[in-house]
Amino acid sequence: GAAELGPYRHYMQKEIFEQPRVIGDTLEGVTGVMPELFGDGAYAVFKKIDRVLILACGTSYYAGLTAKYWIESVAKVPVNVEIASEYRYRDSVPHPDTLVVTISQSGETADTLAALKHARSLGMTHTLTICNVSTSAMVRECQLAYITRAGVEVGVASTKAFTTQLAALFLLTLTLAQVNGRLTDAEEAEHLKMMRHLPVALSSVLALEPQVIAWAEEFARKENALFLGRGIHYPIALEGALKLKEISYIHAEAYPAGELKHGPLALVTEEMPVVTIAPNDALLEKLKSNMQEVRARGGQLYVFADVDSRITSGDGLHVIRLPEHYGLLSPILHVAALQLLAYHTALARGTDVDKPRNLAKSVTVE
Ligand code: G6P
Repeated sequence: GAAELGPYRHYMQKEIFEQPRVIGDTLEGVTGVMPELFGDGAYAVFKKIDRVLILACGTSYYAGLTAKYWIESVAKVPVNVEIASEYRYRDSVPHPDTLVVTISQSGETADTLAALKHARSLGMTHTLTICNVSTSAMVRECQLAYITRAGVEVGVASTKAFTTQLAALFLLTLTLAQVNGRLTDAEEAEHLKMMRHLPVALSSVLALEPQVIAWAEEFARKENALFLGRGIHYPIALEGALKLKEISYIHAEAYPAGELKHGPLALVTEEMPVVTIAPNDALLEKLKSNMQEVRARGGQLYVFADVDSRITSGDGLHVIRLPEHYGLLSPILHVAALQLLAYHTALARGTDVDKPRNLAKSVTVE
């Protein structure tokens, strides 16, 4: 009811603003990287496996894609990420030394549960879930679990469940790195410090809301949008486009920026807003030349840059600066800005934000 919403207009908005707290809750008690945080016997399992298979649907699948970048770069363990409804029905090549990781807010998604059982039927018995509901079927079915503490998520479009999944997956990354001897004590301390600072960093991103509202008013008049990201921010571009589709009904597509020239550039006109995630990382210079390709065709760029990315607003180029560059954890900050953009665009269009047409919070049938 209205009392529960407090100062917020919708549950989705409330849940976006709860993120600093629930990320803190999810990482509460994590005083160091310890395999047993994932359950009894986790060390032995992590020691045995030499690859990871992530299974999930929807927003949880995008959390998995982000984790692939983290795990391969930090822990050096190969990762496959599969959409559960595809994996369960295709012929794949199983390997017994695989850690099967399911990611699910509800823990009841039929396709993800079936994909897990399929993996097990192929002889893959090492299973871990990153899940928000401790009493769910998924937690019962998996050998190991890390429970995110997002709390009840009411909005159909997932927000706080996603960022808490990312926090848990980053912890998994560090744990796999440690077990494989790829994490020095100094690195561990530095990563933990960044994780502990996440709630503060995220709050300063949420404080950008007024600037995002100004963009949303322009977005509300569009029927199409492109989202660009590179590297670890490509899954975040996918999630930003999904949020916009789900609640504003604007057709949105995400591309890794380097693919622009292989197709989507044909769609770029003055009518096309192009949302670009532009953190100050190793790919920034390449991204800038992708942005130039959009500008040359009259496309309107809406860039989420970092405090120190040297990009300045100009004709056809709008910039919102995130307060700090956050290295490996940057996706958690950038996605919050995209959640706000989708939310305020939907609000301006007057859609039913918390209950978008045709969608369900949890899909427990196939
Ligand atoms: C539905 C929800 C999405 C969610 C997906 C997977 O489609 O609307 O928000 O990402 O299911 O749900 P799960 O509970 O498994 O994360």
